[in-house]
Amino acid sequence: MSDFSDSNWADSQFAQEYLDHAETYVPFRREMMETVRSFCSAFLSSTDKPRILDLGCGDGIMTSIVLSTCPEAVPTLVDGSQDMLDRAAERFTGRTEFSYIRATFQELAEEQVLKDTYDFAISSLAIHHLPRPDKESLYRYLYSHLGPGGHFLNLDVVLAPDDELESWYMELWRAWVDRQRREGVTDRDFSDITRRYQDNPDNVPDTLDFQLDALRRVGFRQVDCYYKYGVFVIFGGRKPA
Ligand SMILES: C[S@@+](CC[C@H](N)C(=O)[O-])C[C@H]1O[C@@H](n2cnc3c(N)ncnc32)[C@H](O)[C@@H]1O
Repeated sequence: MSDFSDSNWADSQFAQEYLDHAETYVPFRREMMETVRSFCSAFLSSTDKPRILDLGCGDGIMTSIVLSTCPEAVPTLVDGSQDMLDRAAERFTGRTEFSYIRATFQELAEEQVLKDTYDFAISSLAIHHLPRPDKESLYRYLYSHLGPGGHFLNLDVVLAPDDELESWYMELWRAWVDRQRREGVTDRDFSDITRRYQDNPDNVPDTLDFQLDALRRVGFRQVDCYYKYGVFVIFGGRKPA
């Protein structure tokens, strides 16, 4: 995807559909959230009023997970979509110390939008919309906006290393959404979810290996994958203290 305004995310109906149904078609979303919660509790809870950056914040769900373990955190939420930022602001009504920035990831770096440094940068299901060179540029930019010892964590979808594995990962995903329907979690049929994901030109995932190496190249340490189920991963790294 080269221009946010041409993407599906600029369409508020598409965004609403995601918000309404992500829980039923993102496999083990709750478990992934628990992993993020545990990460925050292990690595952030000793920081006084940690400054948090939530990239592609959507309705602010990841910020809310961070706040559940670090209630004193001071978040800056960034999204290309004003609708999404409005949804996030609604979720955090009354929290006047929170900042909201409408900017695409490309604009962030090109226009030097961020003025502060952060203790923790987090992103969920957003960076796979950037083409490969822009991903690495974003990682470099984030590195420059983390304070010493700051963490970056990305919950996202990745490309399998080869077609055979990609097919199996898609099968795993389909089986998960089918199970949600069979077990009555939803009555919506999402059995075409993998086709929609693969046919959508907004989705340009890269391999996990490429992204872990990109993090190491820009200087991150403790780079690792913290969770994986098919194409769904949580990975990240830490800026040296
Ligand atoms: C799948 S939603 C994820 C929202 C939220 N982080 C979550 O986990 O539920 C992707 C979000 O990334 C935003 N987004 C997509 N491409 C972007 C870009 N190039 N720059 C900034 N935001 C972008 C969309 O507007 C949307 O809010």
